[in-house]
Amino acid sequence: MKSGTFITFEGPDGAGKTTIIRLVAKQLKNVLLTREPGGIEIAEQIRRVILDRDNTAMDPRTEALLYAAARRQHLIERVKPALDEGRIVLCDRFVDSSLAYQGYARNLGIDEVYMINQFAIEQMMPELTIYFDIEPELGLKRINKNKGREINRLDLEDLEFHRRVREGYHILLERFPNRMVKIDASGTVEEILQKTLQIVVNKLATN
Ligand code: TMP
Repeated sequence: MKSGTFITFEGPDGAGKTTIIRLVAKQLKNVLLTREPGGIEIAEQIRRVILDRDNTAMDPRTEALLYAAARRQHLIERVKPALDEGRIVLCDRFVDSSLAYQGYARNLGIDEVYMINQFAIEQMMPELTIYFDIEPELGLKRINKNKGREINRLDLEDLEFHRRVREGYHILLERFPNRMVKIDASGTVEEILQKTLQIVVNKLATN
């Protein structure tokens, strides 16, 4: 039986990916829209520990390992069963977030963080990753405007950290040119949505 299609969405904070993914999902059939940790109880518990604003003493390697652990649980409980049923899985953040945030911005090393993630995900990499590119200044401005959004431990990082996250993603784009596609996320929702849909539909057509 043919398995489904695994597509992930990435970008610095405030790139607007969550809004766009929801709109993309509405246009498709047989789709699972999820995000890490995606409502999986064990992974949600891990996420609370990672993002708790009181956990200022968290070591970067602990942070990377916890993200990898939450990723594993979400993959096994939610993503893999949907792919086995032949569904399209759209996932808001995946392994590239760890490579950009922990590997590059936190200086743990992209290869080192990839290694621990390989243990977590085995061979289950996405077929397509859409990266929403945004200047950190604009991204942070969008976050601050969005009053309903939680302010988590990573949001409290300074502008320099968010600049490094973006630089990290740019390195990943060069490293994985066949899997990753960049979209300029500074435009209107409608513009970004149309570009995203075109890329997703093309991918589905070639599968
Ligand atoms: P979210 O706001 O997209 O839910 O993500 C929460 C924060 O966690 C965001 O600042 C990005 C960060 N993050 C990492 O640092 N590493 C990861 O592996 C993931 C999935 C998220």
